[in-house]
Amino acid sequence: TPTRRTVDVTDVRELTPGVVRFTFRDEFIAANTEPGQFVNLYSHNPQHLMPRPFGVSEVDGDEVSLIFAVVGYGTEEFAALTAGDHVDVLGPLGKPFNIRTDADYLLVGGGLGIPPLLEAAQALSERADCHTTAVLGYRAEHFADVYAAKYADEVHSIDESEGNVLTLLERLWPGLQERGRELIILSCGPTPMMKAVAEWAAKRGVDAQLCMEQRMGCGYGTCVACTVDTRDGREKVCEAGPVFTAHQLGW
Ligand code: FES
Repeated sequence: TPTRRTVDVTDVRELTPGVVRFTFRDEFIAANTEPGQFVNLYSHNPQHLMPRPFGVSEVDGDEVSLIFAVVGYGTEEFAALTAGDHVDVLGPLGKPFNIRTDADYLLVGGGLGIPPLLEAAQALSERADCHTTAVLGYRAEHFADVYAAKYADEVHSIDESEGNVLTLLERLWPGLQERGRELIILSCGPTPMMKAVAEWAAKRGVDAQLCMEQRMGCGYGTCVACTVDTRDGREKVCEAGPVFTAHQLGW
């Protein structure tokens, strides 16, 4: 079971204006994180009791990286840390993507939903004999192609000004079908994007697993700040998710 502890920050760098890659050292989280899971980071400021949840984007040895946008006091505080500083962390938390070895994968990410998919690309490249295609949609803040290219077999990205991930999916679909392997979609991004992706997938008989970006409080089931409606009633995203199947969500 994860327990909250203090770890060393090893690297903090800005990838694009306002988007930060944050790396810390923790053997337990590095060894136990499955793609789609997240960690809580805690502020040093005692007035800010609630942690911030971040999907893990890469594990390298005993180092764990997160990528996030600087959007308020929590993320500002973490972004201002540097190598040698300490931070309190808890994780890994939540239910991961369900990864099989006998299928090909489409990783469909939008904006700051992309980081958990980078970790999925890494896990797939290490564990499974399958072809992975990353399909990434951005709103100017391109930050992930280089990380995705490290682990995915193919990376396709599009700026919002030119279209969206569905434009890319349509373009790629004939080639994907030709591969003749079962295809599974792992997606993370804004809810309207994931809904559209789930709909696109359903029409083509492709299973989709969706990693919800949700506001959270505690991150482990006690505050009820994170509910989502599912076929089985209201569920807590931090415990029952953040990964759900399109079927579970009734999409
Ligand atoms: Fe507290 Fe989910 S974040 S219950």
